[in-house]
Amino acid sequence: MPLDVAARVVGNRPLSRDYNVLALAAPAIAAAAAPGQFVMVKAGAGFDPLLRRPFSIFEILRDDRGTPSGLTILSKRIGPSTRLIYDAREGQRVDCLGPLGRAFTVVDPPAEGWLVAGGVGLAPFATLAQALRARGVKTTLFYGARTAAELFYLEFFRGLGVELVLTTEDGSAGERGRVVAPLDRRLASREASAPLMLYACGPEGMLAATARAAAKFGRPCQVSVERVMGCGLGGCYSCVVPMRGDDGGYHHVRACISGPVLAADQIRWDSAE
Ligand SMILES: Cc1cc2nc3c(=O)[nH]c(=O)nc-3n(C[C@H](O)[C@H](O)[C@H](O)COP(=O)(O)OP(=O)(O)OC[C@H]3O[C@@H](n4cnc5c(N)ncnc54)[C@H](O)[C@@H]3O)c2cc1C
Ligand code: FES
Repeated sequence: MPLDVAARVVGNRPLSRDYNVLALAAPAIAAAAAPGQFVMVKAGAGFDPLLRRPFSIFEILRDDRGTPSGLTILSKRIGPSTRLIYDAREGQRVDCLGPLGRAFTVVDPPAEGWLVAGGVGLAPFATLAQALRARGVKTTLFYGARTAAELFYLEFFRGLGVELVLTTEDGSAGERGRVVAPLDRRLASREASAPLMLYACGPEGMLAATARAAAKFGRPCQVSVERVMGCGLGGCYSCVVPMRGDDGGYHHVRACISGPVLAADQIRWDSAE
């Protein structure tokens, strides 16, 4: 059952001109959250923006005894809500509803977990990487950004024992180009009998390309889809995703309640291609 709290801002760390990590005191939401779930956030008190916006739960904050005390969100400033989130001050209150949506299914060894992140699509992977590593799953993060200065939390992932494969569009760190290129090569060289789960989050084109690569090599893939979400609770139908039906036709699901994590091979990707 999601909870709606007026969460106190307990930290706000700018990572770049557009990215920041906002920390919220929301112990009950944090305690109930699973990797891949999200919160609906209303950052301002007024009518603009009127509606809340969805954000992946980035980190779970814990007190000295290890009890969940809050959560963070990794935000990229693109409009009114993310501007307010970028500028939020400690002590301010932010309406926060969650945890919402379906989480990633976390695999066990001997399966490996390969996480594919584009830009702010990194957000659900901090908690997922922690969950995988806690189970002893060998984990690799394929992480692409526009430029080196927009590759965040690398030490965090290295500290968990996650292998990093980095790409940037301008070639300033890692391989130049898109993140799916090294993923494709790694998939081609991996023995078919070695179990693997792919997890992807990022722009729709990147998700579609990851889904194609997964299908080409017969690998299961869970994607976290981004949709405009008006309510986060299944009421407004702003977030529908076309899915393949067993009969060859298609139907729609609401990403906020059937997702945001969906099986890549069940989505109709035509609109993203
Ligand atoms: C499940 C989920 C988790 C998300 N997690 C994060 C996160 O962790 N960090 C983060 O920064 N963002 C995340 N997003 C995206 C975030 O919710 C949007 O960027 C949000 O709308 C920004 O609000 P805004 O008021 O600043 O800008 P808006 O005014 O809402 O949007 C600015 C522009 O971006 C377009 N836009 C908004 N949302 C989307 C979308 N989902 N897909 C394509 N175009 C869009 C709008 O049409 C508009 O043109 C997530 C989205 C979903 C569905
Ligand atoms: S966001 Fe309203 S139905 Fe999904």
